[in-house]
Amino acid sequence: MKTENFESVVERMVQISKERPLLPETYVPWADEPDSQTLFLPDKIVSLEGHPLWSTLTRDQQSELGRLESVQVMYSYAWSETLACYFFSRHLLTLNPDSIEYRFLIRELIEEYRHQEMFGMAIRKLQREPVLPTRLHKFFGNFTIRFLPPSMVFMSVLSIELMADIYAKHIRKDPKVYSVMRKTAELHHIEERRHIFYTEEWLKKFTRNAGYIKASLFSLLVMLNIYFIRTLYVQKKFFMQLGLANPEKYYRAALKNYNHKFSEFALQATVDFVQSFNGFNVVTRFFWKWILKVKL
Ligand SMILES: [Fe+2]
Ligand SMILES: [Fe+2]
Repeated sequence: MKTENFESVVERMVQISKERPLLPETYVPWADEPDSQTLFLPDKIVSLEGHPLWSTLTRDQQSELGRLESVQVMYSYAWSETLACYFFSRHLLTLNPDSIEYRFLIRELIEEYRHQEMFGMAIRKLQREPVLPTRLHKFFGNFTIRFLPPSMVFMSVLSIELMADIYAKHIRKDPKVYSVMRKTAELHHIEERRHIFYTEEWLKKFTRNAGYIKASLFSLLVMLNIYFIRTLYVQKKFFMQLGLANPEKYYRAALKNYNHKFSEFALQATVDFVQSFNGFNVVTRFFWKWILKVKL
């Protein structure tokens, strides 16, 4: 954190953020309209894809499920970023406005507010309603940002950013996906790379030389955050909206299918990060395998 090198990199990131802002209003082609072939998520990240029941859906139902889940994913990020902004504001009160940390977090806040607005615009464009977080989600979200120490909140923010970034990669690289979604994901990816770099470096003062207990605690915290956000994605209501005869059966199959494939396509960067501070040991490995189905 204190090295000359890190400070000059952060200084440059602050400059880039000021001189070359990516504005959702102009970066995303809002006037583009989807046609009958357009996807709203790449098939491979739609919950039911890969399960035998997927082929029993019509192409329209498959596309509609992708559309609903796309809205749900964007809503979940917007919500978690609103929570992160709440925490950043709390944290700013402890810093000197002239410090590099303060100046970077102000830029991060500005970008995160733009992301939330952008996700809201994209959700309106997709014309579908997300399912809101449960009371339990709200409780844990609020508890984390209000009461946990900064190192643990930054760790939580980073866990979600690492995962969101992999989602963004899948979306922006699939030419069959709606241009509004691809450009939204591209903008998010560019700015989140800076946030991820900053947060990983900032956290090093806590993760470097972390002992067994501390590394286990951080590892479980990351795991719980991923579990927390993952439980927002697959929703029974969406299968009811598809007009299926047995939505419960489809929902259960999708949930199980998704939990397995999620660990394969979304978690590599997170696993690498936890590995970087020796966060996998006999105890934590058990929970990662059991709860997140990660192969370690
Ligand atoms: Fe963001
Ligand atoms: Fe971010």
